[in-house]
Amino acid sequence: KKIAIAMGGYSSEYHISINSGNMVYKHLNREIYDPYRVHILQNGWSVIDENDNPYPINKNDFTVKIGEKTISFDCVFNTIHGTPGENGLLQAYLELVGIPQTTCGYYQAALTFNKRDLISVLKAYGIKAATNYFLNKEDRIDFEEIIDRVGLPCFVKANRAGSSFGITKVKKKEDLIPATKTAFKEDNEVIIESFLDGTEVSVGVITWKGKVRALPVTEIISENEFFDYEAKYLGKSQEITPANISEEKTKKVQEIAKLIYKKLKMKGFTRSEFIFHKGEPHFIEMNTTPGLSQASILPQQAQAANINLTELYGSAIEAALK
Ligand code: DAL
Ligand code: MG
Repeated sequence: KKIAIAMGGYSSEYHISINSGNMVYKHLNREIYDPYRVHILQNGWSVIDENDNPYPINKNDFTVKIGEKTISFDCVFNTIHGTPGENGLLQAYLELVGIPQTTCGYYQAALTFNKRDLISVLKAYGIKAATNYFLNKEDRIDFEEIIDRVGLPCFVKANRAGSSFGITKVKKKEDLIPATKTAFKEDNEVIIESFLDGTEVSVGVITWKGKVRALPVTEIISENEFFDYEAKYLGKSQEITPANISEEKTKKVQEIAKLIYKKLKMKGFTRSEFIFHKGEPHFIEMNTTPGLSQASILPQQAQAANINLTELYGSAIEAALK
């Protein structure tokens, strides 16, 4: 089966996505799959061969001409973090051209990539989350009102972004202005959330042999103020799998992560973040194309569950082709 591994994307998470895509490329079982690296970049979409030569993708049908041959793909393995791979654009395009892909549908992607909207939907299922305040770029910013609502410290975040790009932990009121500017560089929507003190955990959920399965939970201990870019990718954190929390708490947070997956009719891999605040899991956010690079959490969780990476990545393709 010909598999297009879509990687890159148009956001600040571009480099991480290339690492994720290359990891999948390296580990896919060559006896079953014939994988191609496909760079989805703002200046063009192309298949990249072993010598890094690009071959442009025909966007009418997502085929590629290499030499005399026109290649069409049986499945797209989507490893794009951020736009257009995690917000529904790529999903909608592939649905239109009729190619199965490994992540959730376009509506689920658009909903879950929007932190504010996802939190409001999950609250309807009784899932707890931080108090938040929402800003559009053109809104007049009322700093008093924001602090009244969320308190200090608080987190200022781009509403639709990943890998902590555009996130600042704000401790003093005057820092709200630069923090909002930073967040607006990543997105024209900003969400400001109250700070939740407690243990941060990450829960991977996958479809495994036809069933929804939660992976072992990872506890995140950041050396920085929060789990920022440096903590995530430059070693400034400890990621402990399985998390050093009680079995009861582990089960509870896994059940919530699975509930979200099932209620929202998710597909493929998801990884949700929670903070145990006052003993209760509070939902932070969900990634529907979670990092699959060497430094990423979901591959570590799979290995802790005795699932090797070849099996893990293969399972996403099998689920997509069902
Ligand atoms: N957004 C990054 C890639 C992650 O969730 O792992
Ligand atoms: Mg994220």
